[in-house]
Amino acid sequence: MLLFLFHYKGTMMDLLTEGNAAKLYCLNWIEQYVSSQNRDINILDLGCGSALNFVKLLQNHKNVRYIGIEPSPAACEAARRNLSGLNATIINGPAYDIYGKVVHEQFDLVVSFSVFEHVYRRLDYLKAAKTCLKPDGYFLINYDAGHFVYPGNLRERTKNLVGPIMARLGQERYFQAFVPEADFQNMLAQLNFKVIEARSFNTQLKGVYKTIPAEHRADFMEKWLDFEQWMNSLNMPYKDAQSRYWLTRNFILKNAS
Ligand SMILES: C[S@@+](CC[C@H](N)C(=O)[O-])C[C@H]1O[C@@H](n2cnc3c(N)ncnc32)[C@H](O)[C@@H]1O
Repeated sequence: MLLFLFHYKGTMMDLLTEGNAAKLYCLNWIEQYVSSQNRDINILDLGCGSALNFVKLLQNHKNVRYIGIEPSPAACEAARRNLSGLNATIINGPAYDIYGKVVHEQFDLVVSFSVFEHVYRRLDYLKAAKTCLKPDGYFLINYDAGHFVYPGNLRERTKNLVGPIMARLGQERYFQAFVPEADFQNMLAQLNFKVIEARSFNTQLKGVYKTIPAEHRADFMEKWLDFEQWMNSLNMPYKDAQSRYWLTRNFILKNAS
């Protein structure tokens, strides 16, 4: 197994992202992957939002080409602004049935960060990831439970109730629903994905992050990620009830041969 799968300590003041241990973990993993390959790498980001997660990575690694898919026109505009001058293309639309229609190549890495809990047609979305992945590529996906176990404000609570109804009526924009572990694993099996790694991130330290003074945040991020990595190394079995404590599930997947 490749060493970089297990641990990476970035330089303290140059973190690839902040505020989310799962995304930092994935971006560190991607940076190690990119650095270990002596070639050009392409990355497809499903539901890229404003694409801020990839600004530093693209600045640091000129051998990376990035394509983001995003259904919100406003988020696409923000992503194009944030990535201007970098090797990146943003495509407006949902990530369903995209291979051969909106993207015409397969990718070394397909990523999906904090999107899957908002996706209405989940099997179709995972199918899109699968068809866009090179035979030896990796699919890094994480999704969150915070909207459902801690629906902090009225907007979140309303989306939890109204989003699924609107999606059935054809408006998917407000959809969000908890992702049961068994459903996700069933979909992976149907699509012949192999789980390389399944972890949990974002304990309640995610909330504490926001209270840390700005000058200590990078340091906090490293200690937080280290701590959660250590807990993951205990290999505790995961059940849906644990989403109260671990807000994010994080998977690294490959095509099963
Ligand atoms: C919480 S944001 C995450 C954005 C970004 N990945 C990040 O980590 O900052 C969720 C994003 O998923 C997008 N989304 C929802 N359904 C989608 C779908 N079917 N296909 C692609 N993106 C979708 C939303 O438009 C939104 O930008």
